[in-house]
Amino acid sequence: MSAEPTESTLRDVADEREFTIGTAIDPDSLRRDPSYWKTASSEFNAVTPENALKMGPLRPSRHTYDFRDADAVVNFGRENDMTVRGHTLVWHNQKPEWFQAWDYTDEQLRQFLREHIHTVVGRYRETVDAWDVVNEAVADDGSMRRTVWSDALGEDYLEEAFTWAREVNPDADLYYNDYGADEINEKSDAIYDLLEGLLERDVPIDGVGLQLHALGDHPDPDSIAENIERFRDLGLEVQITEMDVAFHADDVPADALEIQADYYREVVEACLEAGCDTIVTWDVHDANSWLRSFKDFGERYSGDPLLFDDRYERKPAYYAVRDALEE
Ligand code: G3I
Repeated sequence: MSAEPTESTLRDVADEREFTIGTAIDPDSLRRDPSYWKTASSEFNAVTPENALKMGPLRPSRHTYDFRDADAVVNFGRENDMTVRGHTLVWHNQKPEWFQAWDYTDEQLRQFLREHIHTVVGRYRETVDAWDVVNEAVADDGSMRRTVWSDALGEDYLEEAFTWAREVNPDADLYYNDYGADEINEKSDAIYDLLEGLLERDVPIDGVGLQLHALGDHPDPDSIAENIERFRDLGLEVQITEMDVAFHADDVPADALEIQADYYREVVEACLEAGCDTIVTWDVHDANSWLRSFKDFGERYSGDPLLFDDRYERKPAYYAVRDALEE
């Protein structure tokens, strides 16, 4: 009597195709929920700590680090033979609470950031494959976003941040990562110009991460493919780094799950066609989506944007991604 063949997981299909299908990971869920652990490790071949490597969670005080959560996610990835993306070293958001009260000089802030990048990238030299070195440095209108980092270090802070990361890890791929720049638009044009300028100045940058939070208005897949191609023509790798697909909360279509599945499939096809080999979804299942806990966003958008539902059942979007990778 022969056993029924077991159904391939998303990970099986991605591995077969040498495609990276990743998920953001929350360390608390990893610790307390065996289904979370099992789904993440059997269905995905890459992980990104959703929050644990950001400066706020990592830095309880100016001179100390708390690596417990970050280690938990990175070790989970390594133990399960997954690719690990480090997110993120330089961001204007999720800074430590004590930061507000710190009356720093520009030079102190520069030294602080340098030491932060050296320490964090150094700790994970053997275990993190790619870093989002700088996250969201461009504003929605395409201008450079004014942040604590640009104010203190000047607009050259990107150049310095990438150089500091490269100094400690010559092997990791170094990424610029942003939202709202998935298709050809004013913002992606600005990012294109920014990265082209960095490359001309020999700044060590390897790739661009397109987050692809498709909330309400879903970027056009043909335009996404065109956008990926132009960044690749610059010599950069392109990854889709934080994908989820939601609808305006007051306008959720009756067949939302099917529309969502079709969109995921079209994005996978666009990605493959344009030569991108990585898509990361922004957590494992709907119950963990940031849209559920982020009040203002959660009220504006539907809260079930991922491949697995609250009970870890595979959604139509799951099968759409798996089938697109299998073709
Ligand atoms: O961990 C604390 C907890 O100790 C505390 O009791 C609780 C009370 O508010 O907050 C918890 O921290 C929250 C954290 O998520 C973990 O759940 C923060 O308040 C909350 O701000 C944080 O939100 C994260 C958000 O980035 C911060 O801007 C989301 O989880 C995370 O998904 C989201 O991810 C970003 C990417 O990094 C960059 N691109 C956009 C994406 C979505 O906003």
